[in-house]
Parts: sequence; C-alpha cells; structure tokens
Amino acid sequence: MEKKTVFSGVQPSGDLTIGNYLGAIQYFSRLQEEYNCYYCVVDMHSITINQVPAELRKNSLSLMALYIATGIDPDKSVLYMQSHVPEHAQLAWVLNTISYMGQLSRMTQYKEKISKNPDNQNVGLFTYPVLMAADILLYQADFVPVGSDQKQHLELTRDLAERFNNKYSPTFVVPEPLIPDSGGRIMSLKDPSAKMSKSDEDESASIYILDNTDAIIRKIKRAVTDSIGEFNYRDEQPGLMNLINIYSSFSGLKPDEIVGRYEGENYGRFKEELGILVAEGLKPIQERYNEIFADKEYLQKICKQNAERASYAAQKTLRKVYKKVGFYQP
Ligand code: TYM
Repeated sequence: MEKKTVFSGVQPSGDLTIGNYLGAIQYFSRLQEEYNCYYCVVDMHSITINQVPAELRKNSLSLMALYIATGIDPDKSVLYMQSHVPEHAQLAWVLNTISYMGQLSRMTQYKEKISKNPDNQNVGLFTYPVLMAADILLYQADFVPVGSDQKQHLELTRDLAERFNNKYSPTFVVPEPLIPDSGGRIMSLKDPSAKMSKSDEDESASIYILDNTDAIIRKIKRAVTDSIGEFNYRDEQPGLMNLINIYSSFSGLKPDEIVGRYEGENYGRFKEELGILVAEGLKPIQERYNEIFADKEYLQKICKQNAERASYAAQKTLRKVYKKVGFYQP
C-alpha cells in the first residue's frame, strides 16, 4: 500500500515557543516513519508582517536547524524553504481565482492581524490562507498536523480543494487536520485568555524552545494563576489549567493524574517541578540545535537537496492544474 502524505509549515517570524512545539512540531518527527512528510519553513508567509531582512534570513536557517534538532530526518522527510519552490506561489495564484472575498474576510487570524498592524494592512495578509492552501494541496497531503488556531485555515483549504475538484475534475486530495487533544492550544503565561505567541512583545508571556533553564523556571514561577488557591483542573482557573496542560504534554500524564499528585497543596511545588520538567524536556533539543546551527555548510546542503525533492512533487501537481484550467502547454 502506498504511504499517505503529511504536510506542515512553521513561520520563521521570531523565536519559537513551546506552543509551536507542543501544538505541532513535536509530532512532525513521529509521523515520518509512517508517512511521506513535507515540512516547510514558510518564509513567504512571514513577510505579510514587517520583517528585518537579515533577521528573517537567520530565523529561517535557525528554524531549519530546529526542525532537525527535534528529530526530523532530512533523508526521510522533505525539509525545505517555501521560497525555494516557486510552485507554491504559482498554485496560490490559481487558487486565488476560486477564493471568495467574503470567506477570506471572515478569517479570524486575518481580522486579528489587521487590527494589530493598522499601518500595514497589505493584500498578502488577506490572501495568506490561500497561499497556505496551496502549500498543502501542492503535495496532495492527506494529513496536516497543526495547533487548533489553524483549524479555520484548514477548513478553507478543504473548501478550495473541493471547489476546484467540482469545477474542473478530481485533482486534489482533500486534507484533514491533525490537532492534538492536549497541547493544541497553549496559552500565554501572562494572560490565559490569549494564545502563547512568538510575536508577543512581553517575553515573560512565552517560553521559547531555546530558553535556558533559569529563564524557564523563572517564567513559570511568575505565571499568572488565580487567587482561589486550590489545585484543580477546571475552566474557572484558566491559568492553572494551562500550566497543567503543559505539564501533561511534557510528562505524558493525564490532567487528573497531575491533580492527584498536587491535590491539597498551593501552587508552589507544582510550579517548581513544572519548570524543571520543561527545562529537562527541552535540553536535548537545545543541545542538538546548537550543534546543527553551527554547521552552515550542512544546512545549506539540506536546503538545496530537499528543495529539489519538493519541486519534483510540486511540479507534478502544478502541471495537472495548469492543464485543467486550460493553460496552453506545447
Ligand atoms: P505558526 O508559525 O504561527 O505556528 C506553527 C505551528 O504552531 C502551532 N501553534 C500553537 N499550537 C499550540 N498552542 C499555541 N499557542 C500555538 N501557537 C502556534 C500552529 O497551529 C502551527 O501549527 N499559518 C501557519 C503556517 C503555515 C502552515 C502551512 C501550517 C503556512 N502554511 C501549511 C500548516 C500547513 C502559521 O502561521 O503557523
């Protein structure tokens, strides 16, 4: 039986958080044994927000190193940069012509981003989800591992695939999201009603994958909880609930097992042990990352070889699409 295909991408738009790791990246390497996997550094998505060019370049290579450090094997999975494979932009253009203004203007992330960037309401922000759909459909992906904030974009991708298939003839696989039960939405340490985000200006609101042990322990110690002071896992205590979710993701224990461990105590010992758990969980990744990121020659080689592998698959789909929409091909 032929292997199914997995696609996912991460924006190189800042330091990655444990939200990115627990919601998505940790699953990437686990899927590579069973599936044909494509993991992309989506640099073209990143420029919808103002970037400093030299930093974007560095962050893109850093994300590539981090992918490998989390266990993605570039000989098994196809690990590449979006801007190296022009078919992404080419397919996005075709998909733009079957995307509706109304549907795109209802995207939650679009609305959030234009309200946060009043001085840069560029068209790229509006068509961002169409480029994302192109990323996925180009490789005929069956599954897309993402955090729950990407669910709406995945629904749009499915709609576009079905719309194209109905308008022309069956062409695209209609992909399914893979969203983890726990870890799918890690919240800010300072405001448990907001998602933990790499673009948060308050660095104490996020734990970055490359944070050192002291920073991790300090941030968790100062994380916002509540004045109830009872150890429970319930909606009325969203700060504590978020910390328990993080504990659960790093330890593999279920939330009620964690409550069993700390029941009847205030939050002190729990927070201390959580800090150590997270720091120890990230340490091996950080050590591998430092080694890989230092070897620029190796990273360059991976980028080049893998972009060729990605292009090969991408061209196959794009040729089909061009034919179906009626582009003359001699
Ligand atoms: P990005 O770069 O914002 O985030 C990368 C991945 O991390 C997940 N994530 C989270 N999961 C749990 N809790 C959080 N607080 C949290 N924050 C982020 C995201 O859901 C994502 O899976 N549009 C995408 C990038 C993209 C993409 C794609 C993804 C472009 N093309 C095609 C999948 C397939 C994004 O901005 O992710």
